[in-house]
Amino acid sequence: MGLERIQKILSRTGVASRREAERMILEGRVAVNGRVVDQLGFRADPRKDHIKVDGKKLPRAEPRITLVLNKPKGYLSTVKDPAGRPTVRDLLSEVKWRIYPLGRLDYDAEGLLLLTNDGDFAYRLSHPRFSIFRIYWAKVRGVPEEKDLMRLRKGVALEDGRANAVSTRMLRRKEKHSWVEAVVTEGRNHLVKRMFAAIGHPVLKLKRVGYGPVRLGHLPIGQYRPLTAREMEKLKEQITKSGNQK
Ligand code: URA
Repeated sequence: MGLERIQKILSRTGVASRREAERMILEGRVAVNGRVVDQLGFRADPRKDHIKVDGKKLPRAEPRITLVLNKPKGYLSTVKDPAGRPTVRDLLSEVKWRIYPLGRLDYDAEGLLLLTNDGDFAYRLSHPRFSIFRIYWAKVRGVPEEKDLMRLRKGVALEDGRANAVSTRMLRRKEKHSWVEAVVTEGRNHLVKRMFAAIGHPVLKLKRVGYGPVRLGHLPIGQYRPLTAREMEKLKEQITKSGNQK
């Protein structure tokens, strides 16, 4: 790991956000090897140097983890609910770190949800300029015709602006309902439900099966696994790429 800026070290240990850490440094509350450091450019090695904040030793930095959870319906994609409803945090009781969902899945939706304790990564990923592909399987009322699906791909007008699917695919047709795959690149609230409602085929069930390079696969419902190094690398690559495009 080597030398790193002090504010980065502080924010990773969870003592403060990056900005708060900067303020603490400027206020002279941070010492490295017994000497107060009040400059933001100062670097230290968190494994070798003794860093103290307000005279107290820093807690050990948490390892950065990112998990994939198969969220069941009936769980909120938050870590706390004032109304006491189940949240995805309840499914991660063995995870001792503070960990936060990356984006949201509706209470009644299920499937792939990423969670991380890596603040920098979460921040970069949540930025709207990164067009991460999200793959949804929607059970919808009725059977949309190809011309309806084409409308989804061309774009439908929603109250907060137009939205379109990058691709659509009919997965299964029944008499009264069907399953359709839709790939979108945005995380607007209830986006997929609103898009299908706009073409007259309201969503009855919604499942997310893909997010960028990550796939839900056969992960059982309610279970989670760490992101593989390869998935993490590809996700980071995608952020960098789409960030450079615009
Ligand atoms: N679109 C929706 O309508 N709901 C979700 O949970 C995600 C995307």
